[in-house]
Amino acid sequence: MTQPLRLGLAGLGTVGTGVVRIVQTHADLIAARTGRPVVISAVSARSKGKDRGVKLDAYGWEDDPVALARRDDVDVFVELMGGSDGPAKDATEVAIASGKDVVTANKALLAVHGHALALSAEAAGRVIRFEAAVAGGIPVIKALTEGLAGNQIARVMGVMNGTCNYILTRMEETGQGYNVLFDECAKLGYLEADPNLDVGGIDAGHKLSLLAAIAFGTQVDFDSVELEGIQSITLEDIRQAADMGYKIKLLGVAQMTGRGLEQRMSPCLVPDTSPLGQLQGGTNMVVLEGDAVGQIVLRGAGAGSGPTASAVMADVMDIARGLRLPTFGQPATTLRKARAARAAVPAPYYLRMQLLDKPGALAKVARVLGDSGISIDRMRQYGHQDTTAPVLIVTHKTTRSALDEALAAFGATGVVAAEPVAIRIEAV
Ligand code: NAP
Ligand code: HSE
Repeated sequence: MTQPLRLGLAGLGTVGTGVVRIVQTHADLIAARTGRPVVISAVSARSKGKDRGVKLDAYGWEDDPVALARRDDVDVFVELMGGSDGPAKDATEVAIASGKDVVTANKALLAVHGHALALSAEAAGRVIRFEAAVAGGIPVIKALTEGLAGNQIARVMGVMNGTCNYILTRMEETGQGYNVLFDECAKLGYLEADPNLDVGGIDAGHKLSLLAAIAFGTQVDFDSVELEGIQSITLEDIRQAADMGYKIKLLGVAQMTGRGLEQRMSPCLVPDTSPLGQLQGGTNMVVLEGDAVGQIVLRGAGAGSGPTASAVMADVMDIARGLRLPTFGQPATTLRKARAARAAVPAPYYLRMQLLDKPGALAKVARVLGDSGISIDRMRQYGHQDTTAPVLIVTHKTTRSALDEALAAFGATGVVAAEPVAIRIEAV
């Protein structure tokens, strides 16, 4: 009988237990599809005694994931612990040095160390697979590296963080603030160990940088992603956006331009009737644009145990079938170092400001915008408080740098009572 593929599973949390469940419940289906059994040899987590709701007694146990990565009865090291450094990085490096292939769901690790890890894995003849690291259950890495391999990719964009989309859509549905919705995300298994990575846009930025590396044949460059989270978005913004026919989404866009590689992850207003505008809960959507194929839209669960474990198993099964691809779709030695460019495509912006309620305040703000070359499309003043009034302004198309110039100049007017919120309006 064909030799089984033996897994060493480091991490038995939301994703790890999901993988155990699939290996146990779909053993026959997996063997039939790959032509060999896939088995778990040993596992590792911090706490051996914890009840995880899955049967683990048939597997070896290691307190130390590095020891798991060295075991002779492990062919594939499956890293499901998380963290860009520490045990995840140490154990991954040891696994490669010990001749194991690696499957990981860890976007933080790959966004920071992906290029170096890919170089060492490929030099050692090993593979690193990471379908689960981007957009949960959506097979977007496979789509880019295999299905669209014959295309010049023009643009990659999408909603890639389930937590943010859940919080933004539930805020609108329930009227609750985003702090309250953390607990629901935790119960659903969406949150990163540090939820600031989610709401700060960092997790989604990690994912975008990985997609950009594959799409444009470049070395992962997370440091150049222009990042903005959803922390400053209020229920009022969501309601005002809805009133104007928009939804607020944490949207990522990566494109190669004549000036270099643009990567930005920031809250955007998108038309509420657009496919992106209609995404609810933890659902993700990734839009890929290729010169031959046109536009491809992938949509599905972006987080959670089952969807993420599904993606991990796709990678494991590819290895079981003997499919061996370079980490980022082409040999790591051929990936270019891209010049980073600040996103410069003009767009309209939504501006929410708190102005002192006194004569001439609006005129001063309008003058600052005019001086920065920004033209106003729509304006609305509503809900006067004692001494201040919220004002919404929708601009005509402008650049982020012109807007930043205006934002910096507002302080000197003496009429702006709180930090303005500026959100790009994206035509999608
Ligand atoms: P989790 O529920 O917090 O589980 C983490 C697991 O790692 C736990 O079992 C923990 O052990 C173990 N662990 C942590 N530090 C360890 C160490 N030093 N030594 C041994 N084991 C250690 O996290 P998760 O949600 O499953 O996420 C795992 C990875 O998948 C992360 O990289 C995450 O970004 C990624 N991911 C998650 C999702 C999702 O929806 N959750 C989706 C896509 C990707 P104990 O249980 O004993 O504490
Ligand atoms: N914390 C991540 C999210 C998990 O909310 O999307 C999936 O990568």
